[in-house]
Amino acid sequence: MSLQSIAAKIMFKLPDPILGKIMKYISPKKEAPIKLDPKKYWHLQGNWAPVKKEESIDELEVIGEIPNELDGKYIRNGMNPRSGYSDHWFFGNGMVHGIDIQNGRANYKNRYVKTPYYEDDMDMMASSFDLKASPANTHVIRHAGKILALEEAHFPWVIDNNLETISHHDFDGKLDGPMTAHPRVCPETNELLFFGYKMMGKPYLMYHRVSSDGKLVQSEAIDIPRPVMMHDWNITRNFVIFMDLPLVFDMDRAVEGGDPFGFRPECGARLGVMPRNGTNRDIKWIDVNPCFVFHPMNAYEEDNKIILHVCRQDKAMVGGMDQIYGGDETTGKLWKWTIDLETQTCKEEQIDDKPCDFARVDDRKIGLKANNGYAMELNNKAETLTFGNHLFKYNLDEGTREDHFLGEHTVGGEPLFAPNPNSNDENNGYVMSIVHDNERNKSKLIIIDTNDFSNKPVAEILLPQRVPFGAHGSWLEN
Ligand SMILES: [Fe+2]
Repeated sequence: MSLQSIAAKIMFKLPDPILGKIMKYISPKKEAPIKLDPKKYWHLQGNWAPVKKEESIDELEVIGEIPNELDGKYIRNGMNPRSGYSDHWFFGNGMVHGIDIQNGRANYKNRYVKTPYYEDDMDMMASSFDLKASPANTHVIRHAGKILALEEAHFPWVIDNNLETISHHDFDGKLDGPMTAHPRVCPETNELLFFGYKMMGKPYLMYHRVSSDGKLVQSEAIDIPRPVMMHDWNITRNFVIFMDLPLVFDMDRAVEGGDPFGFRPECGARLGVMPRNGTNRDIKWIDVNPCFVFHPMNAYEEDNKIILHVCRQDKAMVGGMDQIYGGDETTGKLWKWTIDLETQTCKEEQIDDKPCDFARVDDRKIGLKANNGYAMELNNKAETLTFGNHLFKYNLDEGTREDHFLGEHTVGGEPLFAPNPNSNDENNGYVMSIVHDNERNKSKLIIIDTNDFSNKPVAEILLPQRVPFGAHGSWLEN
């Protein structure tokens, strides 16, 4: 162990507020290299590059017809470094893009999420020990009347319906650790369920349950043997399922300037099934083959089994943290995991060999049996994260896939399902996605009828400025 590591270990024992001040002080000034290596800085090139302007533009041009029953806001978050530079895709501060849709018309607005991370143009190191200093760049959801911009190492931030930033949100002071960017709102109870993971200091994992009116009513420390990246998880009607997968944080390596995360299959991989109001003592840990999952599609219960559909990849970040995806082994494909709660085993089946991720179902089916699942194609031949030019619709009962071709030069974003508000049927609604025409360098929001998925969109809303490739979003009905 080097002296640097020993010094870091002693320093990291200080309380977070003190450590936060020290880190801000000693973090090197964020500075872009003169020449950006395209393999490391792919996230600043082409349509990954940030946009600078905050716009508010009404009456967007539409090809086709926006379905009249759609009444709400499509909102999507993504990394958009204020200075134009960030060390890593994960580290750019967030910008939300919103498209308001009503009476067959659409307006556009985009705003930075104005947290201290944005105000001070921070990097991740400087923000590491200040829970308020979130880049707020990964997801955006609504619960109990609040729209929350999320990232996974800090508090959520509240934004208003006009996308203006209001404040951080710590549930009246009850939350004292980070919140995942992938909480789940239960469609039956309207509870908000989430976890938070930490890379230093036990407990490495916490579970939280928020009532339908927004009160944090339960927090539980969960034992896991080592700090791992836990990007997403699952809920069902009665359970939550943690994914303890071997993308392991290594502080010694981080301190010495190496990659903080390493894929270590020898550590094993486990799914932790816990009753939603249970504690650490109630968890059943079930082994699966070592792998990584950024995003599951959904999970549900059937008799004494739990069925999960996940975008499973064999490995993660084997070429370092810059290789978020890239190459076949580190790109997700749809798998089905069937957990038998009696035998405490998991059957693992690959459903499809198409590379895909950013999977979603109808939000009203989260934790329940959904027949339709949606995902975005990824290009597993590329060396860095590259979106594909198809969106996929899966029939989860039959394990079949339907493709929507976006065009030779057009590549996708996360597909979101927007239901027909007059129907409870997951077969009655639309799939929305912000896609980008790389040749014309233009972005659009497409609206596809889910019953006519492979056909051309019913509407293409032409966006007034390029929307950089981003992460996740929500359809918020008015
Ligand atoms: Fe995500």
